[in-house]
Parts: sequence; C-alpha cells; structure tokens
Amino acid sequence: MWGKRTGYEKEGRRVRIQFEHGEGQIEIVNPWVINVFSPLHTQEHESRAVEHPNFAFEDCDFRVSERDGRIEIVTAELNVKVYDHFHVDFYDAVGTPLCLDYRGSRDPFLRRGNVDIAEGEGHEAMRTTGHHKIQILKAMEGGEKFYGLGDKTGPLNKKGYEYEMWNTDDPSPHVESHKSLYKSIPFFITLKERAAYGLFFDNPFKTFFDMGKENSDYYYFGADDGNLDYYFIYGPDMKNVVTRYTALTGRTPLPQLWTLGAHQSRWSYAPEARVMEIADKFREHDLPLDAIHLDIDYMDGYRVFTWDGERFPDPAAMIEKLKEQGIKIVTIIDPGVKKDKGYSIYDEGLDKGYYATDRDGVTYVNTVWPGDSVYPDFSNEPVRQWWAGNQKIMTDAGVAGIWNDMNEPASFTGPLPDDVRFKNDGRETDHREVHNVYGHLMSQSTYDGILNATGKRPFVITRAAYAGTQKYSTVWTGDNQSFWEHLRMSIPMTLNLGLSGFAFNGCDVGGFSHDCTPELLARWVQVGAFSPLFRNHTAIGTRDQEPWAYDEQTLNAYRKAMKLRYRMLPYLYDLMREAENTGLPPMRPLVLEYPQDESVQELDDQFLFGSMMLIAPVVEQGKRHRAVYLPEGKWYDYASGEVLEGGQAILADAPLDVCPIYVSAGSFLPAYPDQKYVGELKIKELLLDVYPGTGEYVHTQDDGESFDYRSGSYNEYRFSQSEKDGELEIKLEKGNSGYAEAYSSFRLTVHGLSVSWVELNGEAIPFLAEIRGTTFHIPAESGTVRLKR
Ligand code: NOJ
Repeated sequence: MWGKRTGYEKEGRRVRIQFEHGEGQIEIVNPWVINVFSPLHTQEHESRAVEHPNFAFEDCDFRVSERDGRIEIVTAELNVKVYDHFHVDFYDAVGTPLCLDYRGSRDPFLRRGNVDIAEGEGHEAMRTTGHHKIQILKAMEGGEKFYGLGDKTGPLNKKGYEYEMWNTDDPSPHVESHKSLYKSIPFFITLKERAAYGLFFDNPFKTFFDMGKENSDYYYFGADDGNLDYYFIYGPDMKNVVTRYTALTGRTPLPQLWTLGAHQSRWSYAPEARVMEIADKFREHDLPLDAIHLDIDYMDGYRVFTWDGERFPDPAAMIEKLKEQGIKIVTIIDPGVKKDKGYSIYDEGLDKGYYATDRDGVTYVNTVWPGDSVYPDFSNEPVRQWWAGNQKIMTDAGVAGIWNDMNEPASFTGPLPDDVRFKNDGRETDHREVHNVYGHLMSQSTYDGILNATGKRPFVITRAAYAGTQKYSTVWTGDNQSFWEHLRMSIPMTLNLGLSGFAFNGCDVGGFSHDCTPELLARWVQVGAFSPLFRNHTAIGTRDQEPWAYDEQTLNAYRKAMKLRYRMLPYLYDLMREAENTGLPPMRPLVLEYPQDESVQELDDQFLFGSMMLIAPVVEQGKRHRAVYLPEGKWYDYASGEVLEGGQAILADAPLDVCPIYVSAGSFLPAYPDQKYVGELKIKELLLDVYPGTGEYVHTQDDGESFDYRSGSYNEYRFSQSEKDGELEIKLEKGNSGYAEAYSSFRLTVHGLSVSWVELNGEAIPFLAEIRGTTFHIPAESGTVRLKR
C-alpha cells in the first residue's frame, strides 16, 4: 500500500516517514511502547481510548539512523526497524526478534468442495475472510499464545481463533464460533518463549483479528476504514504489558466498597412490594446483600429517567426504607429515548438537536423497548454533558449506581444502518466509526454525571465497551445462559477481560436465559464469589433464581460462598487498589503469575485471586472431585490447612458446598467478620490470616466511598514475614496515617504452625492454639511478632 521509502524526519517524539504512496509515523510513547501510525482517515490520532494528558507518554532519549535500506529507531529497551512498504519489526535491546511483519501475502488454508450445498441445509459454511484495506500480518514462530481481546468466547489462549470487533447484541447462546459480542477491545497479549508483548489496534471501526486461524505462519489484524494506528507494548514480563497498556488506556478507579458486595437482580423486580420482599428474604435467610438492581420495568413505559408511578409510587421513600437494611438500588438506563412528544427528556433532546440523524439530518428512529426510539449522539460533548446532568434525576431519588444496557447500540431491527450521522465532537461522521465507542461514551457521560451529582466514586455497569471504558465503568459479559458450558466459559471470558484492562468485571451469576438448576447455581456462586463484580441476574420468565427458591442444600452452599466473599472483602478491596495502581486484575489466569510454566499457559478452569489464592471451581455437573494444578512453591489447602508441594497436579475433594482453594506460603489475607452488608459493623479490629513463609503485603484502609484517598486520607499497613530457625517473624510497619477512623488492632491467625510462645516487641503475649492455627491480637501499630515452636 505504501510503496518504497522516500525520506524521513524526526519531529519531537515522532519519526515521520515518507513513502511513494503515503506517510507513516513511529511515535515513541516511552522506551517500551511504540505507536505505528498512518493517516489513512484523519491527519492526527483521534482516539476515544487514549486520552490526554496521559502519563504513559514520557520524554525519553531515542536514536534514529538509516542503514541497509531501513530506518532504525532505538530506545533504551527496543530497536524498531522500518522498511519499504511500511514494514515494521520490533527487536529487544540486544537484538532478539520480538514481533516481525510477515513478508508473504495472505494464504488461507485450502477449503475443498462447494459449500453452497451445506449452506442449503442451514450450515454456517466456513469461508475465507476477504482482504481488508488495512491488514497487518505478523510472523508466527509457532510457540505463541494469545490472550486478551476482551470477553470473546472460546478458550483462554486465542491461538487458532478469529474474532471481529463490532459491538453485537446477539441473544443466541454464546458459543466458540461467535466472532463478536457486546464489547470491542482490540488489544491482545502475545506470549512467546522469551518474552511477552501487547498489540493495541486503536481503530474504532469494525476490526478483524485472526490469530493463526487461516494460516499458522502468521496472525493478522485489520480494518476496512480508519487509520493504521497500533501500539506495540513490550513486557518482557506479561504483567508489564498489562500495566503499560492500562497506563495508556486508563485504569479502573478504586470502586466504593459496597459495590464489591453482592448484587441481586432480575428482569424485573417490580412492584415495590416485590423489591421489599427480596430484601427481607435475604435478611431472613442470613444472606449478605448490598444492592438490588431494577431492570427496565421500573420505568414509566420504558422512558429513561422516569419511574412507573403505580409500581413505584415513591422511589425515594422505598430507597430510604431499603437503606435501613443496608441495601442500595441500582437502576438500568438504556440509550434509546422514547419518541414521545410531551416526554421532557425526548423534547429537550430534540429541541437541542442531541440525537443521531439520518443522512438528510432528520432524527433517526429505530425500535427498542419503548417502541419508536431515538439515539442520543454521545459522540458529541454537549450531549454527553446533558446526559451527565440527567443522572441527577436518579441520584436525587437515592439511586446508588447506574446500569447502562443496550448501548452497542442495540435495536430490534439489527445494527443501525452505516449512514446514520453523528456530530463526533466537531468532525461529523457516520455510524461505522461511532458504533464501537457508543457504549464507551455513554459510560463516560454516566460516570461524569454521577460524580458531579454525588461527589462519590461513581458506580456504572455497562454492557457495551471499547478499549479504555474501564476508566468509567465495570462490565458484565451480557446475556449468558444457565448452562454448565457458560459457567465454564465465563472463566476464560472474564480472565481475558481482566488482561484487557477491565479489572472490575463479572458475569450474570446463575446465567441469564434459561432455568438454572440447583447444582448449577451452587457451583456458579463459587466462581462468582471471586469475580470482582458479583451479580445474580436472570431473564424475564425464567424460574426464580434467588438462592431460597431452591432446596436447603443449595441455599446453604450459596450462603457459604457469599459469606466467604464478604469475609474476603478487604482483600478484594486491596486488589482493586492494586488494579488502580498497576492495571493488574484481581481475577488472574495462572499464566500471568507463572508465564514460564507451560502447564498453566492454557489453564482456564482455575484462576488466581490476586497473586496468593488459587481457586479451582467445579464447572461440571455431578462432579465431586477435580484435578488441580498447583504451580511451583508451597501451597496451603484453605479448607484443611494441609501443606502441598507445587509443580504437580493433585486430586481435590469438592462436595457441593466446597470450591477447592489454595493459598501460597508467605501470604497474608485480610478479612472482615461476618456482616450482612458492607458497613454494617464499624470494624476496629481487622482479621488477618497468615500462611507461614516469606512474603509481604500492604493493606490499605479508607472511607470506602470518596476520592479523599487521593489526597492522602488513607491508612497503610505493611506486613512482612520470614522464617528462620523454626521461628516465624511477622513485622508490621504503619505507613501513611491520613484516615482518622483507623483500626485499633489486628487479630492474626497463623495457619499450620504449632507454637509454644508468641511475643510482640520482645514481650510475651497471650495466644490461642487451635488445630486451624494460632490466634493472637496486636495493636495496629508498627511492631515485630515472633512465634516460636
Ligand atoms: C438485556 C440485558 O443484557 C439484560 O441483562 C437485561 O435484563 C435485559 N436487556 C432487559 O433490560
């Protein structure tokens, strides 16, 4: 496409390269991150994902030279070689090839026979994907593994699969052959023998990813419009790739603590009496709960920002009553605004020209829940501000969070036509360019509105997303089914979402469509207990999916898993803080922590919760045992305390109420006492489970709802432990002390160690020796504890 090189010049952090038929540009974002750009659509980058100012962009030294028919750009970490036809190769600082353009042309595997006959019977025939205007082929060596790409179906490792980025509301059961779902996250990580790197193709048009499906010599990504605009993100460690990618596209801000509690939903809980009944039943059955979600039927005829006056005569009063039980309300808001003269939201938007139009400038109308509906043009700042302002209607009634749905944008007649027009912040464009970022921009506006209205950390959930939406919203994986296969697949889906920047994610626990069986619910909640967003949600017309709607055994298993989640909340909260600082997700595939261990590179029915807990859920009906692979190191069986050597597979017992869990030696796990909801108790003493070994841990405490921690209003407790001569030494160092309501003490339980003596700062202290461990209390001040056998 570009032809031969004709010249180049260095311009600040950029190297502009002229070719016979166009222009290319290499930009040094920082020593590890390089942008490759060609202005095929706009002269400059126009990204919705990479916002500025952006701390990923660092001033750094780099050298540019021309030799042997190529341009070489050298940073402290990378050597980038640019050739004719804008071929770009990436090497590390010592010349090891990392990512090279494939020089051949596309050469799909042969397909034999006439597929028309198969199509005639209704089969989806396999056909080779056509060529794309932009098409970057990268050479494959053979050992690569691919991760990321958002929450696509299929296994953890995407090698051999193809996907499309085109936000799609497809209610058919999600299976491996789905190329698109609700989100477009055009970012993946390649793990090779020596190193990992990421590629982020920042193009909002429909994009195509073939990870070696059509030929095992190369993989490619492409688009039919937009710019060539991709980032090469070097590791070499996989964690660094995630950290650098999220530095560029943004990280999930620490959420309010209650948002990590349990959420309960159904399409739809209504009227008010049913909502109150749900709240009462949770309390009656001793089940923790923090939020109930109201789906579309709370509205007046599906008019967004309204309430059905009969079903919910006084929403503020209802929300106040629920508050006494510690339960918050989250309401759904779809983008489709009912076309209805006299409905103030519709009238105002129409008056101000805030809706997408057809190509003649006439407001575009399609069908969603309210019937004829119009689509706010979120690509335009005044519309985002207007929508942000509308959030106050909900928050003034006491609504604690907003759930954005149907924002692919969906309609009942398929995708919006390509030629629907959007103002796009001053450079008008059509639906093809806005489609994939529509949900992103809606979430951004919702986030801003809640922040302005409440001053608290906003809680937004969105179904549609683009790269970077993690800054504004948590996500769920959309309409799954109550199938065992979907429970199993939810693990690689959410793990890949986490690797794609979305640290705060989850799926509909129990499954959305179809009826959930008791056993499936019991097993699903054991996975859900560890997903950062926990929401039991189901469709209209399915059988009741609340835990008490089943038998005693299911209810007990459900309660046990939820109590464990509530116990682990301070740990999850610390992990969310880590996510804000590093981009690393709480729920991690083992390969992220043990990239060199080949046994874990494709493991997607086990995962890590942080770096310290290994979760091995049962995801098959009738199974009461499962094989668990433990990576190198020493692991404690969470239930029995048994110490196990890693680097081997074991067979774990898993009765219905047990999800096998292992904790690595040297860990600290902070825990809360039993609570019905976040904040029920004023916690003056934090529990801390200690698993002997060598390790460090930082626990942070703050008000759990405001952004004051960013100006120092938090307390930091740094724990470390080491073993020497049969003694375990635990140190606590108090760090920042900016939050007034500090803990007064910690209750430590040291597992798997029988001791005869415990001392704090040289003085003996009382302790309780039990089979499960040794328990004692220490003040929340710096100090050293010694445990002697
Ligand atoms: C589709 C969403 O994915 C689902 O969660 C919701 O219940 C329905 N829309 C109705 O609002």
